[in-house]
Amino acid sequence: MRRLRQHDWTRRLVRETSLTPADLIWPIFVREGSGTDEPVASMPGVSRYSVERAVEVAREARDLGIPVIALFPFTTRDKRDEGGTEALNEGNLVCRATRAIKEAVPEVGVLCDVALDPYTSHGHDGIVREGRICNDESVDVLCRQALTQAKAGCDILGPSDMMDGRIAMIREALDAEGFRDTMIMSYAAKYASAFYGPFRDAVGSNDLLKGDKRTYQMDYANRDEALREAAQDIAEGADMIMVKPGLPYLDIVARLAAEFEMPTFAYQTSGEYAMIAAASQNGWIDGERAMMETLSAFKRAGAAGILSYFAPKAARMLREG
Ligand code: PBG
Repeated sequence: MRRLRQHDWTRRLVRETSLTPADLIWPIFVREGSGTDEPVASMPGVSRYSVERAVEVAREARDLGIPVIALFPFTTRDKRDEGGTEALNEGNLVCRATRAIKEAVPEVGVLCDVALDPYTSHGHDGIVREGRICNDESVDVLCRQALTQAKAGCDILGPSDMMDGRIAMIREALDAEGFRDTMIMSYAAKYASAFYGPFRDAVGSNDLLKGDKRTYQMDYANRDEALREAAQDIAEGADMIMVKPGLPYLDIVARLAAEFEMPTFAYQTSGEYAMIAAASQNGWIDGERAMMETLSAFKRAGAAGILSYFAPKAARMLREG
């Protein structure tokens, strides 16, 4: 075995998988107003951008060879309500950012989340009544949110809400309104996880969230259920599937990629990012090496690509060799 490991060139020659900027999706946080970027305290190196700056970020993505950026809005308390109605406002932050980016940098794909949590006063992804999430009622609103975002020019919709049956309903609504080419990347296997904490800070949901999401996101002890989730979403019309969180769930990524032979993505979540960034800041690990190692691990597991807050940094390093 050692003979093939002795030189950089032999290692490169026999390397089984590769990571390129084209494998990366860059999630960014957008905010109202203009001016300087607002750092997210729990995600060192990550900021919330104004719409103007989001356009510059999209240009940066294009220049780095990153194919897609994913938009998440920071929503203040005054724009939130029980039903998450701001999600349906064609002039909301995500729609304005989408339009601005597609106008200025059409060659970069825009992915928008479909879920109500940035817009609800309780921080849940759907409609809640008497402490219970209402699946079907939520799906109706999510379909309208999906359409609102498609109208703004969004290329890929990412339903992250985990309601049952939403992929079929969203596909039907899109087709009926003439958005036949708008793609769906379903969060097929999304687990109720502690690794979303910093994200909830970034979108302003953390202090608001009542309870947890265990009645609609998956139980992390489960494996076969992920196959059923993915099979359903694919049958309902998903173009691509995703597993989330990422690194603690590589077994699921590998299994879904092998089983369905669909483009399968992994989401390296905010908590995973924060762990590496914080340990690196403390000098406890080499952050750049840990970043590259984890991103490559997703490719080794069979992922077609990775949503990662490291996307710009990794793409820059990959380009510089
Ligand atoms: C919202 C959503 C979440 C993330 C993406 N979309 C949080 C949640 O489900 O509570 C998490 C992303 C991350 O942690 O980086 N439905």
